[in-house]
Amino acid sequence: MEIVRSRDALRARVAGWKAAGARVGVVPTMGALHAGHLSLVEAAQAGADRVIVTLFVNPRQFNAASDLAAYPRTETEDAAKLAPLGVDALYAPGLAEIYPEGFATTVSVAGLSEGLCGAHRPGHFDGVATVVSKLLLQTGADRAFFGEKDWQQLQVVRRLVTDLDIPVEIVGCPTVREADGLALSSRNARLSPGARTVAPALHAAMQQAAAAIRGGAGVAEALAGAARAAEAAGYERVEYIELRDAASLAPLAAAPQAPARLLAAAWLDGVRLIDNLAL
Ligand code: PAF
Repeated sequence: MEIVRSRDALRARVAGWKAAGARVGVVPTMGALHAGHLSLVEAAQAGADRVIVTLFVNPRQFNAASDLAAYPRTETEDAAKLAPLGVDALYAPGLAEIYPEGFATTVSVAGLSEGLCGAHRPGHFDGVATVVSKLLLQTGADRAFFGEKDWQQLQVVRRLVTDLDIPVEIVGCPTVREADGLALSSRNARLSPGARTVAPALHAAMQQAAAAIRGGAGVAEALAGAARAAEAAGYERVEYIELRDAASLAPLAAAPQAPARLLAAAWLDGVRLIDNLAL
């Protein structure tokens, strides 16, 4: 597997593949790869002839300097995980390749970026939308694979690709979970052993709320009950737990008639965890 550092070298590689008739897939990541990322690589390999994984820890999507500093940088380990899978290129650009001197553009997706995580992490989705636009345009991929674990991010990316006419198909891939239900996340590694045993309680509480809503319970009561259950299990604070339209993310106060998503963010052991499920 080749490690590519510059946009121009990557474009030359991709042009060669496309000239040979290959469909190119990309999996954007910030590294610290776990089985969830590797499932995206697997999906990309099934849906494309050539696969690029990008690795760029994007400073613009961190709203706390401490969070950016704490983010693991594990390129050597990440490359070692990807090489045996047959990934064609790891694109690991330096900061100047993404944000060269004078860089002055922000991609901002109104509406979809504003509630849920956007309300608690100001500027986060502008950072995501900007870097994802750059990565899609730099790679020129035909298909891009994102995890459903970051459901709001997935909707933001779908919108920006449509609005900016970026010629790429966005593919959402199911969340990968531990056997006890905890959604895989690079943040899980920061949990103490005690907190790790508590962590699945959020997903369990969300499942109970979803079942209650499906069974006719009031949405507000079911969501409040789920927040209480997660906090009773040991979560410090549920930041939000909400029922939203799956695509527009419009709030839903009653049992949904169209595809809906239950989304939550909560703090455990000083770590912010997110999860979502279909309803
Ligand atoms: O989901 C992530 O890892 C990041 O938000 C992404 C899409 C790679 C952009 O930096």
